[in-house]
Amino acid sequence: QENRRARLLAVNKEAAKFFYYQLRTPAGEIGRRYLRKRELSEETMHKFGLGFAGKNGAGLVQYLRGKGFADEEIQGAGLAGNSEKYGLMSQFWNRVMYPIQDIHSRVIGFGGRVMGDGEPKYLNSPETPVFDKRRNLYGLNYARRARSSNIILCEGYMDVIAMHQAGFTQAVASLGTAFTEEQAALLRRYTETVLLAYDSDGAGVKAALRAIGILRNAGLTGRVINMQPYKDPDEFMKALGREAFEERIRQAENSFFFEIRILEGQFNMEDPEEKTKFHREIAGKLCEFSEEVERENYLQAAADKYFIGVDNLRKLVTSQAVRT
Ligand code: CTP
Ligand code: MN
Ligand code: MN
Ligand code: MN
Ligand code: MN
Repeated sequence: QENRRARLLAVNKEAAKFFYYQLRTPAGEIGRRYLRKRELSEETMHKFGLGFAGKNGAGLVQYLRGKGFADEEIQGAGLAGNSEKYGLMSQFWNRVMYPIQDIHSRVIGFGGRVMGDGEPKYLNSPETPVFDKRRNLYGLNYARRARSSNIILCEGYMDVIAMHQAGFTQAVASLGTAFTEEQAALLRRYTETVLLAYDSDGAGVKAALRAIGILRNAGLTGRVINMQPYKDPDEFMKALGREAFEERIRQAENSFFFEIRILEGQFNMEDPEEKTKFHREIAGKLCEFSEEVERENYLQAAADKYFIGVDNLRKLVTSQAVRT
């Protein structure tokens, strides 16, 4: 109910304050050092409300109790768990903290990162009545106000933060889960074009392929930013900087051609059998365009790009369209 939600938002807000101040104490120096090593400015740390959860797991609980929150509320927000031996203890321990905000900049949960190698790399708040991971995007509270014709969709917290620091304040990330239909519908309120800036590894490519389908179903135009030879936007930005990324935005690939290019890598074009299968796959993708003009335009472009006769490709499309 409403009161419950308000209490959960209030306890999250106080926890964010606690973490924020912890980062600025002597005990938080190790966290500041970590964030500086990742080239974040004071201003950026402040903008995103970054914080620190220290080694004293009882500190957060004491603080929140002092602010009038019941143990049940602290636990309900996923901030602390009960241990047999020590009682109620913070879930987050010795991590730098990223508060997750909704579009109204209310803190709805947290991501906490280990400072170095360790598992899990990120520990995230569980879902609660105020933290629905499917319906929120990290950074959207800022991105919605960016004067930009597009939104840049990244994988991670650090990607969003690095992009904003470099001036790309239209960057957002899904929250440690795959991009959802609900998130696409949310983005549709602010833009028509989503630029995918996913990691360049296999997992990132797979995630991009999934996101493309979701964006298309939501009526959004998707384009794919090439991050090579870097692993993710954060690393790209550190290595090459803002202008190079702007160039990558200009070169962002049409999502249909991205899909076809990834498909292409799965077939041996020396083999007529496999080549035919590849052509059938292209035809299958073309069938997904319901508007005739659009389909024809893509058909011509694909035929041109992959040296297929336009008429042959059209025949393939027609025969597949009949079957489906
Ligand atoms: N993630 C998570 N839990 C993990 C690993 C990842 O929730 N154990 C989510 C986080 O939101 C993370 C995103 O998935 O930001 C992308 O994961 P990954 O590429 O592994 O991390 P990076 O964002 O690149 O993190 P960093 O640069 O800090 O290593
Ligand atoms: Mn508002
Ligand atoms: Mn990754
Ligand atoms: Mn990274
Ligand atoms: Mn990454």
